[in-house]
Amino acid sequence: MNTLAAVNIDAELAPRFGRGWHCLGEAASYRDGQLHTLNIFGTRLLAFATSDGQISVIDAHCQHMGADLSRGTLENDRVVCPFHHWQYDASGKCVEIPYCKRIPPKAKNRKWLTCIENNLLFIWNNPEGKAPAEGVVIPHLPEQDSGEWLHDWHLDKLVIETNPRELVDNLVDAQHFGPVHGTPTKYFANIFDGHIAQQIFHGDSESLGGDLVAESAYYGPATHITRMRAVFEGMEIHSILLNCHVPITANSFELRFGCMVKKIPGWSEEQNRAMALDYVERTRDSFYQDVDIWAHKIRVNNPVLAEGDGPVYQLREWYGQFFMDEADVPATLRERREIVTVAQH
Ligand code: FES
Ligand SMILES: [Fe+2]
Repeated sequence: MNTLAAVNIDAELAPRFGRGWHCLGEAASYRDGQLHTLNIFGTRLLAFATSDGQISVIDAHCQHMGADLSRGTLENDRVVCPFHHWQYDASGKCVEIPYCKRIPPKAKNRKWLTCIENNLLFIWNNPEGKAPAEGVVIPHLPEQDSGEWLHDWHLDKLVIETNPRELVDNLVDAQHFGPVHGTPTKYFANIFDGHIAQQIFHGDSESLGGDLVAESAYYGPATHITRMRAVFEGMEIHSILLNCHVPITANSFELRFGCMVKKIPGWSEEQNRAMALDYVERTRDSFYQDVDIWAHKIRVNNPVLAEGDGPVYQLREWYGQFFMDEADVPATLRERREIVTVAQH
């Protein structure tokens, strides 16, 4: 095989993963003194925390002979490779080789950019290797600082064997609420604005409450946060849903889903916790009604739409910006566009 052909084959095999922040779950779950294997973005990464609580994510394969560092050990804040015991620090640099004084300058693994927001760990992916543009952040939720909310996200993680676009399409799917969730749509609108895509939904839900108002937004291609309020058993329930994913391959992704609930004033801590768990269960059931559809549907690039369907094509155009170089993103995608699919009645 000539070299050129081999290069082309590799290029075909390498899928592009979206530019953006991707959630890796609760930051605290990485502060357990263990090495965490992350099979994401078509490769393997390693996450670990040093004794000061800082979390590092580095490429998992050793620069020496390619062993999997995530199968090594964490000793004195250093990752020790299981193969020949080279030691790496939190920056991804090899700092000790047991049988040699001189460390080769190339003995350094890539360290990925991460941030912690709302007690969650996020990793930045950009095939161009650049840092996030100004304003491309995961918003801080002030509810996290307030004693009025139960802070646990009650995160669930599952693997879905399809392209993540199926999941993102859901943001504009105005007509599935009745059939899938038993929650007919009273009002439905989307706003596209730079790296943010919003949905505003009003409806009545049997399981989540009447007069349900859900305002949600994708911040980049993979992090979806929803603020929801509904009247349930005579009480107004406020919740925040988290729906985020990280691609594993082009056709599979890790999905994390969680829910945070506001305490009912005057209730005891136990009553609130029981209410939250019950409500989290209900939102989870509702979410998994979607998951069941995604897990079995096929990918359709040019769906046939009818009047009353949401702006699927506009959403996909918005989503497409994360899969092209930043310089190629059309200026029109930076302009705010609001599309009302179901008007108030
Ligand atoms: S492969 Fe890691 S030390 Fe040799
Ligand atoms: Fe849904």
